[in-house]
Amino acid sequence: MMENMTGLKRTHYCGELSAANIGQEVIVCGWVQRQRDKGSLVFVDLRDRSGIVQLAFNDETDRAVFEKAGTLRSEFVIAAKGNVIKREAVNTEIKTGEIEIFVTELRILAKAQTPPFEILDKTNVKEELRLKYRYLDLRRPTLQHFLMTRHRIVKAARDYYDNNNFIEIETPVLIKSTPEGARDYLVPSRVHPGKFYALPQSPQMYKQLLMLSGYDRYMQITKCFRDEDLRADRQPEFTQIDLEMSFVDENDVMSVNEGFVKHVFKQVLDIDVPTPFRRIPYSEAMNRWGSDKPDTRFGLELCDLSDVLKNTEFKVFAGAIEDGGSVRGINVKGAADKLSRKEIDKLTDVAKTYKAKGLAFLRWTADAQSSSYEKFLSEQEKEAIRAKMGAEEGDVLLIVADKNPVVFASLGALRKHIAEKLELIDKSKFDFLWVTDFPLFEYDEEDERWVAMHHPFTCPKLEDLEKLASAPGECHARAYDMVMNGYEVGGGSIRINNPELQQQMFKALGFTEEEAQERFGFLIDAFKYGAPPHGGMAFGLDRLCMIMLGTENIKDVIAFPKVQNASELMTQCPAEVEDKSLKELCIAITAEQE
Ligand code: AMO
Ligand code: AMP
Repeated sequence: MMENMTGLKRTHYCGELSAANIGQEVIVCGWVQRQRDKGSLVFVDLRDRSGIVQLAFNDETDRAVFEKAGTLRSEFVIAAKGNVIKREAVNTEIKTGEIEIFVTELRILAKAQTPPFEILDKTNVKEELRLKYRYLDLRRPTLQHFLMTRHRIVKAARDYYDNNNFIEIETPVLIKSTPEGARDYLVPSRVHPGKFYALPQSPQMYKQLLMLSGYDRYMQITKCFRDEDLRADRQPEFTQIDLEMSFVDENDVMSVNEGFVKHVFKQVLDIDVPTPFRRIPYSEAMNRWGSDKPDTRFGLELCDLSDVLKNTEFKVFAGAIEDGGSVRGINVKGAADKLSRKEIDKLTDVAKTYKAKGLAFLRWTADAQSSSYEKFLSEQEKEAIRAKMGAEEGDVLLIVADKNPVVFASLGALRKHIAEKLELIDKSKFDFLWVTDFPLFEYDEEDERWVAMHHPFTCPKLEDLEKLASAPGECHARAYDMVMNGYEVGGGSIRINNPELQQQMFKALGFTEEEAQERFGFLIDAFKYGAPPHGGMAFGLDRLCMIMLGTENIKDVIAFPKVQNASELMTQCPAEVEDKSLKELCIAITAEQE
């Protein structure tokens, strides 16, 4: 028989009840967390999204109420009516620990099978199993807190931008591909066999067109899709807080958006964030921290040793410098006792995953100095390295020689790795900064051509316009990234609003005029009808939530996330479709089934 809720309409959420409710009759609903049957006494912990409250059946009549309802088990859905009383043994662990509900009526609304894992906050259940039963996983208080906080972050964003005159406008999801650097997800068209829509990697072109249409300030909280390799801070579908503004320069965009960060941290975490944020040019970020998204909550800065080694005979170092690369190192102060030879070997493996060919070291303990490189250097060179890196007894020097991208990537990663390992990061701190003055282009070794570092609509720095064709590698962009605790939490730029300059840009990227017209013709044409100067940025909402909630796993802030291989374990998608559907779309599967 279907149980209904007649006569048992909820009056309170479980977690809301407190000593203030003592003496009141209340009705609560939720899931059975657990029960303890002590013979004459039965206690049931009842859980809903607000917390847990204890139900008590502690005399003969109550016991009868309990038994009449039928046997309760964990995760059964029940409704209970009763009187709030002061608890004898106060439980300080939970919000409602001062009270309990003396139950007079109990009804089972739905039974539950034994779940594949217990719904507990602290869990060592494998992630795979949790994701397969995500709807049960989502009952855990931590995840409920994460998703409810995400809601508050989204709400704060809508409020803030609304207060600042932004208008939320929806842009389409079935679009022509926008080049954002990653691979597109494609959607076949039935009506136009052989043609495809792309899912947006971002609303970039549409939001620029909205500026051209005069909407002045646009915002949208929207899904973006990128078919790229997943990492701990990436998902194939993710959410952006996307923004665009007219008649602005980079200072306007940065100040409105750091204003948002200030607002959301105050509203959601009650933390006062000082603004304006520090601005660090890209080249400084790379030179000091080996990263364009540096975590500056700890030191371990990079030190350039190339000048003191420019005449060295040690091939490893000399070769890198001759190749146009560099030799750089990190001094891990006072870590000689913590970083054994074996540990340094492990660090070498870390460096190698970033393509470093090796990791040269000096380990200086009270008893000995061991080094992998000093025997190859002159006295003068050894001394110069020690002096430049401020080496003292107790220190470990780690050095990489290679092309600059490899040196930065490997030392940048080592820095973070070591900071985690030696617990050098104050996790209670938030670190905010902007990285500015990005290169306009980066060279794609595989395709042997220049590609836009941000996207092709980003405006070059005015002083670099002349070098667009002759020296693309030296041009800088009017682009900026917002970095929090070593994560790129957002990024944007001032855009090109002049159709000729946009053409020049496409040319620098290796598009012929015909190709540019074919792919972006509508945009180039649109810009001929009066485009205001404009710029904007987009926050990665999932990353922002992750950082604000102090978790390092982006899945924790997404209700139904995808896993490493881009599948979703609960519904098991992607999945095959019926032949009929494929036929309709004129699609034949040629790849062999695995
Ligand atoms: P960008 O590509 O830098 O810029 O993206 C903006 C922000 O989105 C987040 N992000 C992601 N989050 C989770 N999973 C992913 N796969 C993922 N990819 C990106 C990051 C990033 O900073 N249209 C431009 C913005 C602009 O110029 O206005 C854009 O999309 O936090
Ligand atoms: P080798 O002459 O190859 O025995 O290298 C001597 C030391 O330099 C070893 O500790 C290597 O790990 C280290 N080494 C080798 N290549 C590099 C490199 N590209 N950068 C830094 N150290 C390196």
